[in-house]
Amino acid sequence: MRKFPEHFVWGTATSSFQIEGGRETRGESIWDQFCKNPGKVMNGDHGEVACDHVNRYKDDVQLMKDLNVPWYRFSISWSRIFPNGDRVVNEEGLKFYEDLLTELENRNIKPAVTLYHWDLPQALQDKGGWMNRDIVDEFVHYCDVIFDRFGDRVSNWITHNEPWVVSWLGYGSGEHAPGYRDIPAFLKAAHHVLLSHGMVVNRFRERKLQGEIGITLNLNSSYAFEESASSKEAAVRWDGFLNRWFLDPVFKGQYPADMVQHYGVYTDFSFVKNGDLETISAAVDFLGINYYSISYLTHKSGDWLDAGHESGGHRRTAMGWEVHAKGLSDLLIRLKEDYENPVIYVTENGAAYDDEVTNGEVQDPERVQYLEEHLDACLDAIDAGVDLKGYFAWSFLDNFEWAFGYSKRFGLVYVDFETQQRIPKESAKWFQQVILNNGLKI
Ligand code: NOJ
Repeated sequence: MRKFPEHFVWGTATSSFQIEGGRETRGESIWDQFCKNPGKVMNGDHGEVACDHVNRYKDDVQLMKDLNVPWYRFSISWSRIFPNGDRVVNEEGLKFYEDLLTELENRNIKPAVTLYHWDLPQALQDKGGWMNRDIVDEFVHYCDVIFDRFGDRVSNWITHNEPWVVSWLGYGSGEHAPGYRDIPAFLKAAHHVLLSHGMVVNRFRERKLQGEIGITLNLNSSYAFEESASSKEAAVRWDGFLNRWFLDPVFKGQYPADMVQHYGVYTDFSFVKNGDLETISAAVDFLGINYYSISYLTHKSGDWLDAGHESGGHRRTAMGWEVHAKGLSDLLIRLKEDYENPVIYVTENGAAYDDEVTNGEVQDPERVQYLEEHLDACLDAIDAGVDLKGYFAWSFLDNFEWAFGYSKRFGLVYVDFETQQRIPKESAKWFQQVILNNGLKI
């Protein structure tokens, strides 16, 4: 048995838009609108009902309890709290999270709350969304309301989930809501997301709230596909684009110089004002990382990053993502070395596979193998001195996988979207054992 440290935090994770449903009880978010654009979301899927969690949260929390998972990471939907993107609060929306927290408390499950997991009120997008600096004040105001109400009930706060995805997929590549395809917009949006993070961290400190606050970044290990200098440079650029552009401002108070130079042809960075980087680098209590896969890079002329992806030859999940757990230990060790050994939580890790129900059961050995390998990689990192404090499996339930709709199943618990029946998969039972043992039988 390979043991995890004492008090290691074990949890599962979800996000509001992906599971809640209850469209009629909240305002329109950018994802509601995006789902209506033909061809943007697979099968025309949407978040109107999702896992119907707003109506089923009590049973869902009970299921978490049955599975013995001591922590639960969920997000608060901004458009449920401020349906019209103004400052008129929806009391019913606050009440939903109050009831959810009560349910969790009653079952002794600890909450980790993400303040922004992508469901921006559409009304704020109509004013430019994350491209408009004014959004920073709106985000701080929204978080203030949440801290007022729940500041003493939640010990672990995450300001943003995956700023790269928010800014690049939302404003750069257009694969996600709101669907812009514009490189300067990506850089501006990324800056405002980071700035709002720093502002909220400062607010949290001013309020002298108990507990921890941090940010969750989607990071990976970027390897050169070949030994050539051009391949190595492509890997460094991809690392700059995906990882360092977000890590460096938060931990070092500066954007990485090589990428500033590379992006210089697209923007003059006039959206970066005096003092912004100081705000962005407000000390965090932890770094959350979402880890799924790796990248192999090679030089590709004509690409805006001069970088192209190659296959590393590893097996793949249903998302087509290569499985390579060593990328996780490499990443964790690198974060320790380059960013002064921060406290880290893996706030997401998991895999989609084409699960099927047979005789009322779901056997998902590939997911078990995926989780086992990645947890083993976590142990390798801990052995190497990484201050890894916890691990949240993505996801508690099968849910709305953004542009892929309901076609990709990441859950430890299977959801029949016709009947809303929940069936814990084999992986859920396996995870329960890992938690009970606080270790891996390897
Ligand atoms: C990261 C995101 O935070 C989550 O919303 C998504 O479902 C998973 N990755 C899987 O793609």
